[in-house]
Amino acid sequence: MASLLITGGAGFIGSHTLLVLLDAGHELVVLDNFANSSPIALDRVLELASLDAAGRLHRVEGDVRSAADLDRAFTAPAAPITGVVHFAGRKAVRESVENPLLYWDVNLGGTRALAEAMGRHGCDLVVFSSTATVYGEPDVFPLTESMPTPPVHPYAQTKLAAEQMLAALVQSQGWRVASLRYFNPVGAHPSGRIGEDPTGIPNNLFPYITQVAAGRLELLRVFGDDYPTRDGSGERDYIHVMDLAEAHAVTLDHLLQQQGPTQITLNLGTGEARSVLEVVQAFEQANGIPIPYEVLPRRAGDVPKLEASPESAAQVLGWRARRTLEEMCRDGWAWQHSNPNGYR
Ligand code: WQD
Repeated sequence: MASLLITGGAGFIGSHTLLVLLDAGHELVVLDNFANSSPIALDRVLELASLDAAGRLHRVEGDVRSAADLDRAFTAPAAPITGVVHFAGRKAVRESVENPLLYWDVNLGGTRALAEAMGRHGCDLVVFSSTATVYGEPDVFPLTESMPTPPVHPYAQTKLAAEQMLAALVQSQGWRVASLRYFNPVGAHPSGRIGEDPTGIPNNLFPYITQVAAGRLELLRVFGDDYPTRDGSGERDYIHVMDLAEAHAVTLDHLLQQQGPTQITLNLGTGEARSVLEVVQAFEQANGIPIPYEVLPRRAGDVPKLEASPESAAQVLGWRARRTLEEMCRDGWAWQHSNPNGYR
């Protein structure tokens, strides 16, 4: 078992990963400034975890850009921190276009501050939350990790730069680093007690659909039906957040077993892209709830399709996503239905 720092651990993917890591017996420190998350998520995680987990979850409210906050986090547990999972960051594409300096500060500046703190505390293992949007607007599928990465917006640029910064520390310091490129994480823990809780009107498709189903929003806007895809609407590789959480635990175990310098970059997806209209239909069928929608013009910045090759993760980690789109729809609704206003 290890003593791990989880930055951004109260967020959507972070909270689901905490649950898997607690159940694996690890001792965790969560560093979160709750800018885009709620401390209630941590209470819910403990509600779901094994009874002894409360003593293995330390909370440090702070900012990943702050050396002082990071030092508090690294000295919180009894045993020294031997690894980090770095979720903390900003992740809205449009916001990154409107406010690029915020993204360079939080996503790259935060990763740099974390790496410096890891150096101060003798920690050389990190799992980094990256994104499939580093592939820009590809036209060859499925996407493999060696394909070109022409990031087309500040969000993706900052994530790619952080990947490169951490890779340089493998070369110069012998670190063990895994950059995980998420495709489209959706759904929730089947209990419905933790889930995605976006602030304001959701940018992303899935929480928008669940809020229409909950009656918080009137109808879904489908951004474009004239893409070169099966039915004209955008295609994405949706992956259940519990599959993603389990992939992080497997990645940590893999890195902890490595003796020397290690650098891996892995797509986390299912390998099967679905269109917007296919997701709407799957949600309606899984939950018996109609989702009214209107078709609008394409959204600026959207690409026609993203679809992962999941083969590297299967080969390196022996891991594959296994939950179905139906489970994503059912579990996502279980969360929204029992938490119509999220954690508020
Ligand atoms: C999916 C599809 C839209 C909303 C986002 C983030 C990215 C990454 C993954 C973190 C597209 C369509 C959407 C709506 C719609 N997150 N859509 N109506 O843009 O692929 O990526 O999640 O790494 O940072 O940007 O996800 O859910 O916004 O869009 O028709 O109200 O749904 O056009 O085809 P996206 P999304």
